[in-house]
Formats: sequence, C-alpha cells, structure tokens
Amino acid sequence: MLRLLTAGESHGKALVSILDGFPAGLKVDLDRVNEELRLRQGGYGRSGRQKIETDQVEMLGGLRHGITSGAPLAYTIPNRDNQNWLYVMKVRPLDEAEVGSEESLAQHQSKKIDRFRPGHADYAGLIKYAQRDVRDVLERSSARETASRVAAGAFCREMLRALDVRVTSHVVQIGAAASTMDLSNLSLDEIEAKCRISEVFCADETASQAMKEEILQAQKDGDSLGGVVEVLIDNLPVGLGSYTQWDRRLDGLLAQALMSIQAMKAVEVGDGFKAAAMRGSAVHDAMYPADNGHKLPVKRLTNHAGGVEGGMTNGERLIVRAYMKPIPTIKQGLPSVGFPAFEADRAHYERSDVCAVSAASVVARAMVCLTVANLFTDKFAADSMGELSNSVRAYRDSCQSITKGRD
Ligand SMILES: Cc1cc2nc3c(=O)[nH]c(=O)nc-3n(C[C@H](O)[C@H](O)[C@H](O)COP(=O)(O)O)c2cc1C
Repeated sequence: MLRLLTAGESHGKALVSILDGFPAGLKVDLDRVNEELRLRQGGYGRSGRQKIETDQVEMLGGLRHGITSGAPLAYTIPNRDNQNWLYVMKVRPLDEAEVGSEESLAQHQSKKIDRFRPGHADYAGLIKYAQRDVRDVLERSSARETASRVAAGAFCREMLRALDVRVTSHVVQIGAAASTMDLSNLSLDEIEAKCRISEVFCADETASQAMKEEILQAQKDGDSLGGVVEVLIDNLPVGLGSYTQWDRRLDGLLAQALMSIQAMKAVEVGDGFKAAAMRGSAVHDAMYPADNGHKLPVKRLTNHAGGVEGGMTNGERLIVRAYMKPIPTIKQGLPSVGFPAFEADRAHYERSDVCAVSAASVVARAMVCLTVANLFTDKFAADSMGELSNSVRAYRDSCQSITKGRD
C-alpha cells in the first residue's frame, strides 16, 4: 500500500514528503520527476512566485544509485522564496535584537494578515486552530503543498511506465473558453505533444488562444478564473479497484484524490454530469465479441463510462475530470471582515495566480497516478518491481487466455 505524507509551509524552508510502500528495484529518472515539478510551476496566468522558485526534489532516502530500495522515498523540495521571509517564517522565537530590528519589524508588519479571503481556508482555519494571524492558516492551506504531491505522482508515473501504463492530462476549459475537440482517436503521446506547445496545456490550439484571452481579461479586471482538467490513462488491466466494499471502489478513490486538490469542487468519470440527463441506451457502452488478437475478451465501440464500471477498471481508457473553482485571492477584493474586530472590510490580497488550471492539470495527473499505482500494489505482489511486473504480466496473460479459451 502506498502512503504519502507531506509537511511544510508555503514560505518555510522546504516541503517535506515521505512516500511509503514503494516497490524496490525501480530505476527512477529524477530528471522526469523534476520535469513534472517544472510543469506544475507553468501555465499562463501564474504569479511572480514561479519566477523565484525552480522546484527540484532533493532525495533523502529510498533511492540508491538511481534505483528504489523498498525503503520509504523521502525527499524535500526547498522553497527559494524562504530567503525573503526569514523573520516571518523563523522556527525559533525571534531574539530581542531581531524583534527590534527595522528589517524584522517591517517584514512582520507587511506579512501579518488580518482580513479573510472569501473562498479560502482563512476564516474557518483561524477559528478551528484558534490562531491570531491568518498567515498561520494560509501558509499550510496554500497550494504550494501540491509540489510534494506532484513529485510523489511522478514517482508513481515512473512505476506505471515500467508496467506499460501511459498517463497524461490536459486542460479542457478555462473560464468560459472550452475545448470540444474529440481526443478519443489520439494516442496519449499525441495529446501530450499538443499540450506541450500550448501555453495553457490544452491540446486544442484554437481553444488555447481563447483560454489565454480569458485569463488576460480576468487579469485586467483584477479577477480570477477556474476551469476543468482531464486525466487519461491507457493500458490499465481489467479489475483495479473493487465493488466489494465502498472504500475500494475506483471511482470513489479517484474522486477523493482529485477533490483533495485545493479548489477542486467536482469530479466526473467518463460522461459524468452529462449522463444524468441521458437515456441508458445512449450512456452504456455496448459490448461486442473481440476479434482475434484483441487483448481482452470484449470490445467496445464507445467509452462513455470512462473506463470504470462497478468501481473497477474495465480495460478501456480511463477518463476522469476535475472542476476547479476560481482562485480566491483576487485583486479587486470581495467584501469581507477584519480580525480580531470582525468589522466590515475588504479581503486581503497578496501575490497570487489569476488562473492555475494548467498547473492543476499536472497536480491532477499526479493524484491519479498515486491512486492507480496504489491499486496496482493492492492487487499484485509489489515488494519489488520484478515481482510486480511478473504478476501484472501473468494476470494480463490470464485475461488473454480467457479469450483464447472462447475460441
Ligand atoms: C496549483 C494551484 C495553485 C493555486 N494558486 C492559488 C493562488 O495563487 N492563490 C489563491 O488564492 N489560491 C490558489 N489556489 C487555490 C487555493 O489553494 C484554494 O482555493 C484554497 O485552498 C481553498 O480551496 P478549497 O475551498 O477547495 O479548499 C491554487 C490551487 C491550485 C491547485
């Protein structure tokens, strides 16, 4: 079983992570892990913070000579911006000289937050943890934490790659600008190549331009935007997840993983929301006997289910979408209240993304990789990659021999 635990504040010294339960014997390409981190920092509409940071993992454990050892993968991602927050984020109490210094006073005064941002964790967090400065909430509720998850997801993506499982993600919608491009006949590599040349990580060139314009306009208006991201996975075996218990269902696990990303407000698998208004005959994917040589006993001509039936993979492409609300920190500042007087005021504003949907597509991919990789370790022997690869191969062969048996 894979378990990820993360710690660290947005402007603290570093993010810290432990990914436990990872199989031994996987050759890990750290450049690819760092490339995922670089992508998380990208996308049109991000804040100036991304120019300060160059996220890279610093491994502390679990990897030797580039190969996983079976020990927990332990790593940090340093926050370069911490240099500009030394007094505000200092772990030990400030000593007298520091408290009195002009520099520390100025930093403290400029960074103390006493007004809540509607839509963020500020208000509920301050009350729940009985804090006096909203900064104590913001520092951990910030989506800076997603860098830890992206690195973990990248390790899992390496594992899936070794099992011949391909994963990608892309942006489907930003604000009102949406892509309606049909990607079902494109390989994931083709989709990824198209996204790489889009400033918003969208496979549709025309929609990319419209999305960029939406962001520019929101920026001019001192406002923010949300959108929709999609994660796709090919070559999953049938039967990851299970219908036998509520907490083993793949769709439930995907929803939890994706909804746990800051600002995600809805998740859909396959046709999702749309299916609720349609007839069963138009929604369910008819089955046909597979041709000789097909990997599975059944073939489908459609994939409305998004590769999940009965809480399990069904062998078709996994398609899952996450819906992100607009960023809560907005320049125009919504009506809010100040703390501790709780008098009418306007929301606090500090350096913020106008839109982070492109970055969220990278985070969503990471969370889906983590979820699916975990299900591989649940279904198959997984202490080492050799063991895992062999058991996955044997299982895939057994699915194929069902087909042969029919012939
Ligand atoms: C990649 C990413 C970047 C984000 N950047 C910001 C940001 O710069 N400013 C902000 O206010 N919220 C940002 N958010 C959203 C907030 O973290 C989120 O709205 C907040 O945690 C409350 O969301 P919740 O109500 O869904 O928990 C970002 C989210 C993601 C996924």
